[in-house]
Amino acid sequence: MASISATFVILLFTISFSVSTTLSASVIDDLKRLKPPQDFNSTIMKNCLQNPSLRYCSTSSPMDLDEIFKSTIVASHLCNESKNPNCVESFPKVDLRSRPNIAPLYLSFNFFWKYCPLSILSIDLSNTSLKSNFPIDVLHCTQIQSLDMSHNELYGDLPIENFSALTNLTVLNLSYNHFSESKISDTLFFKKFNCSSFLHSGLIPDHKKFRIKAIVLLIGFPIFVILKVCCLWWLCFHRPDFLPRMFRRKHRFTPAMLKAATNGFSRNNLMWKSASVDIYKGILRDGIDVRIEVYSRESHPQVIEECKVLVQLCHKNLVNLLGWCDNRKLRAIVTEWMEGENLESWLLGSSFTPWNYRLRILMGVVEGMCYLQEQWPEVGYDLRTSSIMLCNYSLDPKISRFKVGNQSSSSRRMYRFGVFLLEMMVNRRPQEEFERGEAGFIEYIKMHYPGNLEQLIDPKMELTQNTVDQAKQAISLGLMCTEVSSNRQPSLEQVFDIVSRAYQSCRVLASHHNHYHRRFHAERGKGHRRVQSR
Ligand SMILES: *[C@@H]1O[C@H](CO)[C@@H](O)[C@H](O)[C@H]1NC(C)=O
Ligand SMILES: *[C@@H]1O[C@H](CO)[C@@H](O)[C@H](O)[C@H]1NC(C)=O
Ligand SMILES: *[C@@H]1O[C@H](CO)[C@@H](O)[C@H](O)[C@H]1NC(C)=O
Ligand SMILES: *[C@@H]1O[C@H](CO)[C@@H](O)[C@H](O)[C@H]1NC(C)=O
Ligand SMILES: *[C@@H]1O[C@H](CO)[C@@H](O)[C@H](O)[C@H]1NC(C)=O
Ligand SMILES: *[C@@H]1O[C@H](CO)[C@@H](O)[C@H](O)[C@H]1NC(C)=O
Ligand SMILES: *[C@@H]1O[C@H](CO)[C@@H](O)[C@H](O)[C@H]1NC(C)=O
Repeated sequence: MASISATFVILLFTISFSVSTTLSASVIDDLKRLKPPQDFNSTIMKNCLQNPSLRYCSTSSPMDLDEIFKSTIVASHLCNESKNPNCVESFPKVDLRSRPNIAPLYLSFNFFWKYCPLSILSIDLSNTSLKSNFPIDVLHCTQIQSLDMSHNELYGDLPIENFSALTNLTVLNLSYNHFSESKISDTLFFKKFNCSSFLHSGLIPDHKKFRIKAIVLLIGFPIFVILKVCCLWWLCFHRPDFLPRMFRRKHRFTPAMLKAATNGFSRNNLMWKSASVDIYKGILRDGIDVRIEVYSRESHPQVIEECKVLVQLCHKNLVNLLGWCDNRKLRAIVTEWMEGENLESWLLGSSFTPWNYRLRILMGVVEGMCYLQEQWPEVGYDLRTSSIMLCNYSLDPKISRFKVGNQSSSSRRMYRFGVFLLEMMVNRRPQEEFERGEAGFIEYIKMHYPGNLEQLIDPKMELTQNTVDQAKQAISLGLMCTEVSSNRQPSLEQVFDIVSRAYQSCRVLASHHNHYHRRFHAERGKGHRRVQSR
């Protein structure tokens, strides 16, 4: 009875206004402009008298005749769109399945849903590409028995409380959507439906997915932790140079670090080899060039113990020890790399070794000796021309051989300094050129000093009127230092005084120093043999 009255209205106005069945843009405009006919209110009144349950009859506020009229137009269209067999007699089903082009349009006519015809018992909006929250207006049709919203992209919360009005709903399909998870299974209303109504809807937790997640988590997390620990272990014990400086142990090198620095101890990096020690050149991760002395496992562990002391030395005239590696696999010492040669080969090989440069080197050596005597009396050093390194681009000499737990007396040290000084002046090798070694060397000097200086002094020193006296004084000082038995040996302080005074006066004299300096570098830049002291 009710449905007949409703369809009567629909039929009436569909015919009177002959609107086309497809909802084009012009139709929507038409819909806005449509005005109900004069007698429309009486028709409505009549309908309501016959069937008070019609939705527009029960509104409490005064009726909006325009809205009701438009809704009847939309109803007639929708009825035809849904291929209902007979829109005049009944309108049992809204069927917009797989019609993504028009379904959202009909959903937007909220006045239609507000007066949802009572004849509609089934709504199918599945597979219509709806991308919104749940279209709550549809639920105005509280009489429906079937609702299918599957295969859309609906999201957000399902308005569960509004569903409770749909008492006759028996078929519901919300599968394949993206709703937020909710506790629908708890509500009385949804007890009527089983999980096949909510497949992949997002509403109920997907147990299979959950299980997979749980398994992944259960297996994945321990693996993640193990990997993390392994990674940390590797960093700490193999490559601490990848860690920030504050987390590293100072002066400590690992075999892996040294291996990386030397390209896996490649032959190209091997600079020197002997029975007990191999010397490699390497580059640390932070770009510092280093010299790596790799000792055989049989070597005395003393080497490392000494190194632990020597890393603390810090002076411009001492070779800078960076650290050590003391490991089951490797025992090594890491020093800064010095591009250059040792004093011995400089004296022998270079054609330009003037007095003022030798004096400057001497000054540096004495400064290094003073530092050691004052700060590290337990550290001894081997003062030979071969153990003094000269860096390229700097005349600062560096003492490179040390001995911790120094037993030699200061008198013995002075003697060594004397021989060293004389060697620098005379430029001859006591061990190789004299039958009785150093004693023979000293004897030879005493024989010619001071009468036969020309024969004695290295001609490459290019002495001038002013410097010849200084050179003479230096030989005399050297001889004094070698007098171990007498008490004529000067102290290191006295030596420092003499050398620094000579150095100062030489600097004042050498106004053409800059000229020398340039020549010096030009000479050294020509690619001398790189000889590292051992
Ligand atoms: C309904 O029609 C009557 C005449 O039949 C008219 O007096 C009344 O104002 C109309 N009501 C509305 C709400 O248009
Ligand atoms: C319903 O649609 C069909 C085409 O699908 C059309 O021929 C028919 O006239 C329409 N009926 C009404 C009442 O608009
Ligand atoms: C959804 O609709 C498209 C056409 O719009 C169709 O090709 C597809 O098979 C439909 N899918 C389902 C699950 O009905
Ligand atoms: C459910 O169906 C019954 C019987 O057909 C009807 O009386 C009742 O009004 C319907 N409920 C709703 C909410 O439409
Ligand atoms: C849905 O429910 C809320 C409160 O529960 C109510 O305010 C709202 O009008 C309802 N909407 C529909 C379309 O039934
Ligand atoms: C769910 O209910 C429908 C009927 O509403 C039935 O055909 C189907 O077998 C049920 N499925 C399960 C898994 O209970
Ligand atoms: C809901 O739709 C899906 C997919 O089309 C189907 O697999 C499922 O059986 C349907 N559930 C019900 C209750 O009709």
